Amino acid sequence: MAKTLAVATDLWRSFQRERGVVAAVQGCSFRIIAGETIAIIGPSGCGKTTLLNLIAGLDVPSSGRMEWPGLGSSDTLRPGRIGVVFQSANLMPVLSAVENVELPILLGNGIEAEARALAALAVFGVETLASKLPEQLSGGQAERIAVARAIVTNPELIVADEPTGQLDQAGAAILVDRLLTWGQQTGSAIIIATHDERVAAKMSRIWRMRHGKFENMVERAACTGTG
Ligand SMILES: Nc1ncnc2c1ncn2[C@@H]1O[C@H](COP(=O)(O)OP(=O)(O)OP(=O)(O)O)[C@@H](O)[C@H]1O
Ligand SMILES: [Mg+2]
Repeated sequence: MAKTLAVATDLWRSFQRERGVVAAVQGCSFRIIAGETIAIIGPSGCGKTTLLNLIAGLDVPSSGRMEWPGLGSSDTLRPGRIGVVFQSANLMPVLSAVENVELPILLGNGIEAEARALAALAVFGVETLASKLPEQLSGGQAERIAVARAIVTNPELIVADEPTGQLDQAGAAILVDRLLTWGQQTGSAIIIATHDERVAAKMSRIWRMRHGKFENMVERAACTGTG
């Protein structure tokens, strides 16, 4: 049986604001299995980023549980073996493209950082941009580099928040196809938040969100009984 990477049980996340409490994620429960591909789609403000941050262990739920049985011990600060693509790329402005991609390696074992970073850039066809600073990149180029940074340590789960928001239709399709091919080769699971139905259609499961809840869970071939 495929390994369970992450399990959410009745996950809630609320934010206190001046005019009251906003419940951004409201009672979501799900399981993420090794190698599967998931799209989270829904209108702006429905809770996609909030949910991805919980899945990545970058935020803690207000109630409910987020666990990572397949990704390392829950007593560490956050689970290992997760690669994150932030909404709007979030590259470090003083580092070149290749240095940005080397960063996760340097924070880990540090071995062959530059060669591995260049190989990850090549997966997305942006190795020629290696020496550019983020300010010299287009939005779409920065997104490709942010995705390269997320895969460079070979994580078992990629959590990508609107990774194609700055790309045109063709560019978005190419980036997602390359990411999915990489995932098939490595066996990694990929979860993407997107507004783009064409991007979502490439994934094996689609979770539609509205007002912090899942509207439905469309299961496709080979992914059943895991919602
Ligand atoms: N740190 C925060 N403090 C207060 N409210 C927040 C915070 N983060 C998110 N929210 C609120 O929670 C709700 C969900 O926000 P979230 O960013 O998760 O939506 P989203 O689906 O990612 O939207 P978008 O498609 O625009 O990126 C919104 O009402 C937002 O204003
Ligand atoms: Mg968002």
